[in-house]
Amino acid sequence: MKVDVLLGLQWGDEGKGKVVDVLTPRYDVVARFQGGPNAGHTLEFEGQKYVLRSIPSGIFQGDKINIIGNGVVLDPALFKAEAEALEASGHDLKARLHISKKAHLIMPTHRLLDAAYEAAKGDAKVGTTGKGIGPTYTDKVSRNGLRVGDLLHDFDKKYAIAKARHEQILKSLNFSYELSELEKAWFEGIEYLKQFQLVDSEHEINYLLASGKSVLCEGAQGTMLDVDFGSYPYVTSSNTICAGACTGLGVAPNKIGEVYGIFKAYCTRVGAGPFPTELFDETGEKIGALGHEFGAVTGRKRRCGWIDLVALKYAVMIDGVTKLIMMKSDVLDTFETIKACVAYKIDGEEIDYFPFDIKEGHLEPVYVELPGWKTDMTKMQSEDEFPEEFNAYLSFLEEQLGVPIKIVSVGPDREQTIERYLEDD
Ligand code: GDP
Ligand code: IMO
Ligand code: MG
Repeated sequence: MKVDVLLGLQWGDEGKGKVVDVLTPRYDVVARFQGGPNAGHTLEFEGQKYVLRSIPSGIFQGDKINIIGNGVVLDPALFKAEAEALEASGHDLKARLHISKKAHLIMPTHRLLDAAYEAAKGDAKVGTTGKGIGPTYTDKVSRNGLRVGDLLHDFDKKYAIAKARHEQILKSLNFSYELSELEKAWFEGIEYLKQFQLVDSEHEINYLLASGKSVLCEGAQGTMLDVDFGSYPYVTSSNTICAGACTGLGVAPNKIGEVYGIFKAYCTRVGAGPFPTELFDETGEKIGALGHEFGAVTGRKRRCGWIDLVALKYAVMIDGVTKLIMMKSDVLDTFETIKACVAYKIDGEEIDYFPFDIKEGHLEPVYVELPGWKTDMTKMQSEDEFPEEFNAYLSFLEEQLGVPIKIVSVGPDREQTIERYLEDD
């Protein structure tokens, strides 16, 4: 068997959590491959709303195995809070949630370092989620990290060494902090974590695949936040792209099957950094209000703009997307016209590829304008009900991106999901 990968193609918050939940009944296993509690994946069903940060979005569908892979960074305190909230609402996690021993631990001092580095950057700050993501991945790559498997041997000693090193840096940055409360919650989280199945997830996944089980790999963030290919340095610190599923789970490249790329019918971004199609006018405000564009983790207002097909084409290429999924179509239900960016103008020259530098003020989007469908799509059940203008928008995107749109989402609820019939189905 091969694994299928589902990932965001924009700057995150595309609706990955909702679609993973919808697709989970078709799989035996759901596995997160990167990121950490910087993610906020929202799921809505049966009148309830849940936000997942580190736990895979397959956790609500029956008895499927959910795996937190080696590429994930885990904060035990936040994990405990997230898992206990799910357990309190009647979801038994311990039997079904497996955690890689190779996943790295976010320490309280990583969170402090995240804040200290952001403060030191002043106006150039990234606008991180403040969860310690960058410093934890930095320690991983510089071979100083603590891993989940370290819990089992000599943990206190390893913790003390890492903490002392972090405190030295914090001191050199003149960063004042209070650690005791954070540490207390963290060590409670460590004890809690010990109750879970800590596994060699690369062995587990490959064994499951060899025994005919199907696996869906869940990405966090989005391709434009990838540390190599995103809008660097305004990115996260992991590989959010499809290849991240290989390194973040121990799955070989030739085991990748379908790659589901998710995008919003428009575009959003939270935090600092360039965003070529950002709208600063009332249209941007309207998209934000209708789409409830506020961060699931930080509550920050998301910046809104039109769809950027130059960036999307780039993401489709980097990720090898085989099927597209369009989210939040309903947010555009009342618009007279809809714009799509098909090229960038840089110093008077038009380009249709994603360049090295997309910094603000230097680049102007070139738009195509399409008629809006001006129809409430939120109760639609099948593609037969789609308005003509909506079908025209889908065809335009498919032609531009060269990949079919398989699923269309018309509202936040699990039920508001429409699968399209494709010729090669
Ligand atoms: P993720 O991080 O990619 O899982 O996405 P988030 O959960 O951060 O953000 C997506 C938001 O859009 C959530 O509040 C979802 O409930 C909501 N959502 C998902 N799909 C749709 C949709 O088709 N229409 C509308 N209106 N909201 C949606
Ligand atoms: P999901 O999985 C949107 C952004 C932050 C910041 C940058 C770096 O819900 O789509 P970090 O804390 O990772 O060092 O922050 O990345 N960011 C996200 N934006 N959705 C996310 O996750 C994000 N995770 C990080 O806002 O700009
Ligand atoms: Mg999110």
